[in-house]
Amino acid sequence: MERMIIPSDAELIISTSSKGDQSKWLIGNTWVKENNRGYENIAEYVAFLILDSSNLPKTSFIPYTPCIIKKSDGTVTEGCYSNDFRGSLQEVTLERLFEVNFETTDDILGNGRYSTEDKFNAVLEKVHLFTGQDVSLEISQMLAFDAFILNEDRHTNNILFLYNPITAVWKLAPIFDNGLSLLSDLKDYPMSKPIDILKKKVKAKPFNSSFKKQLALYKGAPFINRKLLLNRVTESPYDLGRAKEVVMSQLNDAHLQGIIIG
Ligand SMILES: Nc1ncnc2c1ncn2[C@@H]1O[C@H](COP(=O)(O)OP(=O)(O)O)[C@@H](O)[C@H]1O
Ligand SMILES: [Mg+2]
Repeated sequence: MERMIIPSDAELIISTSSKGDQSKWLIGNTWVKENNRGYENIAEYVAFLILDSSNLPKTSFIPYTPCIIKKSDGTVTEGCYSNDFRGSLQEVTLERLFEVNFETTDDILGNGRYSTEDKFNAVLEKVHLFTGQDVSLEISQMLAFDAFILNEDRHTNNILFLYNPITAVWKLAPIFDNGLSLLSDLKDYPMSKPIDILKKKVKAKPFNSSFKKQLALYKGAPFINRKLLLNRVTESPYDLGRAKEVVMSQLNDAHLQGIIIG
């Protein structure tokens, strides 16, 4: 595994996920993220392999690489890194997009009278109004991917838009932050318990806690190529541990066959 040495003057960024803080450093153009609860780095890498084995455009997700992190105090941990995807564009999370328009996603997501589909349509209609972009297919496809990786962290700050202040054009940011998935949280999903039992415990976000309900929002064609994915996980230079077993289990899961090619 590659080694990333954190310079003593590197800026430490702590952002809060739904499961607490993961330390992060921006070094030059590279974002380094430390594991916090388990094998987030391997989950992030395998999630990337899945996307890279799909027919999604290569620009619609970012590559992550597992690494060893050597901190300036001498401690050594594990994590992963990615290259900055913003460039000169401004990032605005889905939550912030609502805020700057004097609205909140809570009004929609917390509305008990709405079905999952109602919530999805209402949020995506607002996004269209605020940005001029119809990203329903892309977002529903991301949620279908989340169902495959059992992502428990797709909150409204992990869906991101990029704004070009010169052209005033919006676009959806690439899919990122997929590390709280594939049962990577060893505190909640101990290695001693069977995968089939643990899979049932994981809760989805942000439209429904059921992965099946969110998966049903996707009306497009299958997009994850089974053969390519099997090759990638088999030939991985890293020990993928349980993440590989979860992928195998998902590839055989009856509910997910509608998004798998072959
Ligand atoms: N490759 C990247 N390019 C641009 N910004 C990034 C990148 N990785 C992380 N960030 C920034 O750091 C924030 C937190 O990163 P994220 O991967 O979501 O970690 P966390 O698990 O802490 O939420 C993101 O919302 C984004 O602002
Ligand atoms: Mg995040």
